[in-house]
Amino acid sequence: MKKRDVLTLRDLTRADLDEVLSLAAVLKRERKEGRQRPLLAGKKLALVFQKPSLRTRATFDIGMTELGGSTLFLGPDEVHLGERETPADCARVLCRLVDIITVRTFAQEIVEEMASFGSVPVINALSDLYHPCQVLADLLTLQECKGRVDGLKVVFVGDGNNVAHSWLLAAEKLPFRFTLACPEGFDPDPAIFDSVAAAGADVSVTHDPAEAVAGADAIYTDVWASMGQEAEAGSRQDAFAAFQVNRELLARARDDAVVMHCLPAHRGEEITDEVMEGAHSVVFDQAENRLHAQKALMVWCLGGQDTSQRGES
Ligand code: CP
Ligand code: NVA
Repeated sequence: MKKRDVLTLRDLTRADLDEVLSLAAVLKRERKEGRQRPLLAGKKLALVFQKPSLRTRATFDIGMTELGGSTLFLGPDEVHLGERETPADCARVLCRLVDIITVRTFAQEIVEEMASFGSVPVINALSDLYHPCQVLADLLTLQECKGRVDGLKVVFVGDGNNVAHSWLLAAEKLPFRFTLACPEGFDPDPAIFDSVAAAGADVSVTHDPAEAVAGADAIYTDVWASMGQEAEAGSRQDAFAAFQVNRELLARARDDAVVMHCLPAHRGEEITDEVMEGAHSVVFDQAENRLHAQKALMVWCLGGQDTSQRGES
């Protein structure tokens, strides 16, 4: 079997995506019934993280433990990726020791280098360019609360950032409508947007959030300054002031629209307290679904349904 890395959502076909999401839903249901299957018994996961994390670290760690495996966390003070050790050497060492590696880092090229030099699957746990695990969990959340993803209108209000880029790639795989409403100058990477649009996806970019959210089934937002952009936080507050997800903006969406945020949230900036705590918010379902989606993703990376069937017997 070809090594199954997940560096972006392009590493999954539509069929792979369906397989991962349906296994995630099964694992979630079984967990709620108090059942766990040791589908990855004895497997070891390394988490190489150069940026802070709550959800991603906790859900990969707990997820692998629940699947019967174990984890090794290597934070920024340990590896000093690219300084003390090249990403290639780090991967070549770790793949002698573990069965799967997750990497949270800055440049996408670091994740790519680790995948190309490591002989075990590498999962992108967030880079400056993409956050595939987040959008996988978000798709699971939409399936749960809307019954489907196909045909929905998802509007991302905020920065053309890593999460927005992964949404664009999701729109390339699945037939839903994706609009990004961002301030001028904060558009998504044109190469990513153009390739997704050229592939026939129903995607658009606008600088008018009020117009964008009309008829939306889901309004999504994220921080205005991502990790690594802390120095720009002040200037971004001015640029993004009209892009807050608040009661007025939500009123323009469908009555049954859901509000999504990958978290962490800066309440009072990109989203108001009221909307985050309101009846439309599914933000904590998204956070929980990171666990179920990533468990399924790790099972897929290490052999897919065949592995899960072996684990069940
Ligand atoms: N949404 C998300 O990835 O959260 P963390 O940065 O806390 O992992
Ligand atoms: N865009 C955010 C996502 C955090 C989960 C960041 O990269 O900081």
